[in-house]
Amino acid sequence: MSIEWDSEGRVLHLRNGQISYLLRVQEDGSLGHLYFGPALAADRSYAHLSGGEFRGFGNRLGEPGRLEYPVAGGGDYRVPALVVEHPDGSTALRLEYAGHEITRGKPDVPGLPATYVESDDEADTVTVVLRDEVSGVEAHLAYTIFAAEAAIARSVRIVNGGDGIVRIGTAMSAALDLPDTDWVMDQLSGTWARERHVVSRALVPGRQSISSRRGSSGHEHNPFLLLRRATTTEEHGEAIGFSLVYSGNFLAEAEVDPFGSARVRIGIDPEEFRWTLEPGAEFAAPEVVLVYSDAGLGALSDTYHRLYRERLARGPWRDRPRPVLLNSWEGAYFDFDEERLVRMAASAADVGIELFVLDDGWFGHRDADTSSLGDWFADRRKLPNGIDGLARRVQAAGVRFGLWIEPEMVSRDSELFRAHPDWAVGVPGRPRTEGRNQYVLDMSRPDVVEHLDAVLSQVLAGASVTYVKWDMNRVITEPYSLALPPERQGEFFHRYILGVYELHRRLTARFPEILFESCAGGGGRFDPGMLAFAPQAWTSDDTDAAERLRIQWGTSMAYPLSAIAAHVAAVPNHQVGRITPLATRAAVAFFGVFGYELDPTALPDAEREEVRGQVAFYLAHRELFQRGRFVRLVGPFDGDGNETAWAVVSADRRSAVVGHYRVLNRPSPGPTRLRLRGLDPDATYDVSTWPAAEDTVARLNAGRRGGDELMSAGLVLDATRAEVAARGDFEARLFVLEAGSAE
Ligand code: GLA
Repeated sequence: MSIEWDSEGRVLHLRNGQISYLLRVQEDGSLGHLYFGPALAADRSYAHLSGGEFRGFGNRLGEPGRLEYPVAGGGDYRVPALVVEHPDGSTALRLEYAGHEITRGKPDVPGLPATYVESDDEADTVTVVLRDEVSGVEAHLAYTIFAAEAAIARSVRIVNGGDGIVRIGTAMSAALDLPDTDWVMDQLSGTWARERHVVSRALVPGRQSISSRRGSSGHEHNPFLLLRRATTTEEHGEAIGFSLVYSGNFLAEAEVDPFGSARVRIGIDPEEFRWTLEPGAEFAAPEVVLVYSDAGLGALSDTYHRLYRERLARGPWRDRPRPVLLNSWEGAYFDFDEERLVRMAASAADVGIELFVLDDGWFGHRDADTSSLGDWFADRRKLPNGIDGLARRVQAAGVRFGLWIEPEMVSRDSELFRAHPDWAVGVPGRPRTEGRNQYVLDMSRPDVVEHLDAVLSQVLAGASVTYVKWDMNRVITEPYSLALPPERQGEFFHRYILGVYELHRRLTARFPEILFESCAGGGGRFDPGMLAFAPQAWTSDDTDAAERLRIQWGTSMAYPLSAIAAHVAAVPNHQVGRITPLATRAAVAFFGVFGYELDPTALPDAEREEVRGQVAFYLAHRELFQRGRFVRLVGPFDGDGNETAWAVVSADRRSAVVGHYRVLNRPSPGPTRLRLRGLDPDATYDVSTWPAAEDTVARLNAGRRGGDELMSAGLVLDATRAEVAARGDFEARLFVLEAGSAE
């Protein structure tokens, strides 16, 4: 990896064995974008890639048009990365190169989560300073290239180097001007209980975007965008990923201009954003991680998975095996007391589960979702011995103890709200919208963060809590903080997220041994920002196995399995009323951080034994399921979506587990093959199926098979007519592959 400066051509070349990223200081001093793609040779001149002259009524009067950090008010009529209002009300800017510095390693992004390195030889960084001479406003653009990944991390600091107060209206984390428009844009979209479905559209002239203005990244769109060629598949072809390390309002947008180039920008959504910058002050925009692949979507996801699992997640739990847990929510909801919880925990311990999590309903006097958020002390009616007493009994029953909290919220019916009504977000003199009967606490206020830090620390220090599920169950309406002056209300949303990060930072620092899982009404804040504090997240409130195929597939585009919490729940499913086999529910949930979300004491004996077997199976393959390479084989968004298949493969390719799922059974299916990927073609694998069966599929695939055969000819999924008639809907089968010694 290296960053070269060609002083003659004024070109910066960031390169490693896989990619090159090229910038150029253009004749007018602006910073142009030359290239992002497969690695190019070092020590060559690339200045000519700036392109030709101004074309007609062009994008940018007077200069070739591909820019690194485009501004408004300078003749470029495409979407800008930076808009600043000067004291005189004008917005014109002219950012010119004022120098650059190349450093080893990777600096932090002030106040914000970001990828990191553990030693300076893992990455190099160049920071380019652009300056507007008239106002003194500067943009410090940081680019980090990792030695071993096809990834560039970008971030920006806007510095007010002048002597007047300026107001930032837009400060995107990155813009990327691409030399052609022949791309399909993939996004991860949905809503509550069906998050992160893959949605695709070909780029067309004009702007196409996804965004959130809810105060969190949201269920509706993930802060992730992917451009790929129409011919790109999982294994072949070009793709560029844009992933924002941020948990608040965002915008990800592609604009196609009439001259055949495309500009992508990603960062904090400029709507509802305005930031006042005093002389000498600076504003840090969140990091964006760009990944390039010319080997398909699989390779692009591999890069994000490694980076986010190993250099975004932090703390002792980053590398530890994550416990198999039982969460009380769908099993008990608000209906529990200490005795019931201890029975559930003991029953969980008996089948091999390692952690019992008490979800909502343990504090204040919360018997429904109508009260008590903010009152983080145990409800003695249900828990006479407090959390500590419960935790001790749960541990004595043989499992560790974990707890649900929702720090950012307050119920109208709560001691906290009665004491501090001004801490709830809302505009004085206007009605405050309730969502799930609750208000949002003003996390932009340091006193609120301080208070939560104190009360939650007390809860966590007093009991043997080894895991915390940090939830966030409503979005922000009527954004306003009583603690901010009128001219700074546009800062509210970002300051809210900074407050959330600050509380996370304090609690994770004080309790490094606690495993944090993030949650927001399921997957409403499943983003890289949260992953920096909580290495796993509750993927969706939808626990139905068939729905989960799409949710987990989509989530895997950007996020590693170690982040994707997946549980087996009771049937009929509580979200869709569907009845799927217990084995299928496990076969889907295995591909992630596994657990249960039911009352184990209510399981009939046969199911209990099945669950015991599932837990044992997962524990035997835990390393593979949590840290193996995830290979997407047959997609639930392709064709009629009836079949899905995926696999996890160990780093040494010696072991793998393949999952194959059929939503509806279909008559007369015909012979089918499932071709695998990612195996060692020269290895021989012992193949077995799970759950144990004696049908045609089990019989035909059992035995030793070459990696070459499994990848080129595939597993055999044939079934007799009688087997098809018997198998019903929602069938799942796993294939376990273990490489034997070479023959
Ligand atoms: C959210 C979470 C659920 C559960 C409930 C509790 O919906 O996603 O898992 O914790 O809140 O109220």
